[in-house]
Amino acid sequence: MKDITIAIDGFSSTGKSTIAKLLAKSLGYVYVDSGAMYRAITFFAMKEGKISTEHFDRDGLISELPNAKVSFKFNDSLGFAEVYLNDINIEKNIRTLEVSNLVSTVAAVPEVRKQLVKIQKEIGKNKAVVMDGRDIGTVVFPDAELKIFMNASAQTRALRRYNEIKDNGEAITFDAILENVQKRDHLDSTRKDSPLLKAEDAIEIDNSDVTIEEQFQNILKLVNSVLKA
Ligand code: DC
Repeated sequence: MKDITIAIDGFSSTGKSTIAKLLAKSLGYVYVDSGAMYRAITFFAMKEGKISTEHFDRDGLISELPNAKVSFKFNDSLGFAEVYLNDINIEKNIRTLEVSNLVSTVAAVPEVRKQLVKIQKEIGKNKAVVMDGRDIGTVVFPDAELKIFMNASAQTRALRRYNEIKDNGEAITFDAILENVQKRDHLDSTRKDSPLLKAEDAIEIDNSDVTIEEQFQNILKLVNSVLKA
């Protein structure tokens, strides 16, 4: 069977990664969480003192970028790849609300995007990849055979994220998450370089009222029709 590229874009916390992981597993494809890469650079910027809630040293971050090596390593027991910064596993460090609150600022820097898009294209050069993010169908893989654009109401998305973060033991309120989700939607969609937008040939899916299993089966049908075409 031929290998294809699957691009999944959409607003924050629409469940892109859950579906992308399931798809990759069932097809035997590589799954790439491109958001984790922007989070990794944000974590790097925080550690280097280049960004906080009070300040952002944009030029300082740009000049340090060559020292930030972002990579993935497959974790057999989890069944998916985890993100590394300079060969250190930072998967746990990048999911905090602090990183979530700063990541859109870092992701708007063209130099950051250029560095990460290059790695993303390299990972996907042999196809057989499912990548999720904001600009995968528009910029990273404009020729992807299947493009999906996921959406859900802000309330639904915030609730999902809230449950996820709460399960990780971080003390947080639902309102803080909702505010973060809405703020990121706005910043990600209005930035100049590669804003979040639906590619013309993407299939839009609103998953506010469907279960993960239903959604997965629907998308699998789309995949099979592309594979048969
Ligand atoms: O998917 P996520 O919520 O973990 O992504 C974190 C942030 O990274 C998101 O708010 C915007 C940015 N991002 C991006 O600009 N382009 C991508 N392809 C993926 C994520």
